[in-house]
Amino acid sequence: MISTNLKIFLAEFAKNRLFGPKVLANRERNAALFDELGDLMVGWAADYLGSEEFASVLINGYNSFVLDVGKSQMEYEKRGAYKNKTYAEVYQSVYNNADHMQNYHWGVFTTTFAWEHHLKIAGFFKDYFLPVLPDEGGTLLELGSGSGVWGLLLLHGMQQWTLDGVDISQKSVELAIDMTRRIGFSDRTNYIVGDALAFTGAGQYDAAISCFLLEHVERPDLLFSSLAGNLNPGGYAFVTGALTAAEIDHITEFKRESEIIKLAEDAGFRVVSTYSASPGSYPSDFRFLPRSMALVLQKRRNDIW
Ligand SMILES: C[S@@+](CC[C@H](N)C(=O)[O-])C[C@H]1O[C@@H](n2cnc3c(N)ncnc32)[C@H](O)[C@@H]1O
Repeated sequence: MISTNLKIFLAEFAKNRLFGPKVLANRERNAALFDELGDLMVGWAADYLGSEEFASVLINGYNSFVLDVGKSQMEYEKRGAYKNKTYAEVYQSVYNNADHMQNYHWGVFTTTFAWEHHLKIAGFFKDYFLPVLPDEGGTLLELGSGSGVWGLLLLHGMQQWTLDGVDISQKSVELAIDMTRRIGFSDRTNYIVGDALAFTGAGQYDAAISCFLLEHVERPDLLFSSLAGNLNPGGYAFVTGALTAAEIDHITEFKRESEIIKLAEDAGFRVVSTYSASPGSYPSDFRFLPRSMALVLQKRRNDIW
């Protein structure tokens, strides 16, 4: 049995001729995980946005975000490289643009379960990251937190954990604070506006998450150093990144999964598990296969360990 909110959301998506069939096919193929995650996340969005609004806000956000992604990927096929190369090019037009961030925010949120390859990454998070964390709780750092969804998925299942989230976008931080207040997580969460690469917490954290920020920064090595520097030795991190997947704000182009593994190892992590996912159906004659990679990492206790 799925919730009324998810039923409303699916009924609205069924009317969406552009993307509805793909999202519904994803649900058919991955019913248990789609419904589990969809129920939870659509429920959070409905509590926050209101029962009248939530489905249209999520679907408008999804449409606008996925159309932008499709356009960027087609241009990338022709150009052979990402369009933007520097952080300055995208900071003003994307992260510091409240109007753009509204649709972007809900679009990224919805792709977490509506895109099949991201749903699979969420399955990997559940099966390979959450089980390595201590049940007795701890402190979690989330870099590039956006809507806060990944940290909230952890907090939802693990009551003893608290979270500090850092995002460069004022708008994203405001939305994350408002939503967590509305859905009952505000006493365990703290979100601040800041640069993930330069962030240093008051103390070291027990675990860390950074999802889909790696490809947005000019120096992804600094993101791994920041994660490692903020973690206790032996602490676990969950990191995701996109490869040969263009978006207006993707500036670092990863071509091989091993490039990301090398960055993690060089920053002092042991690579515990990895998973690379691509869209279920994608034209085989295209040069670039867009994909997303997830890694479960552990901060090494010394150079060899
Ligand atoms: C694609 S979104 C991912 C959001 C969220 N982690 C998720 O997976 O749903 C990338 C996020 O990184 C944030 N961001 C970009 N550059 C950043 C930086 N240097 N420091 C902190 N956050 C940054 C953006 O504002 C945006 O919220």
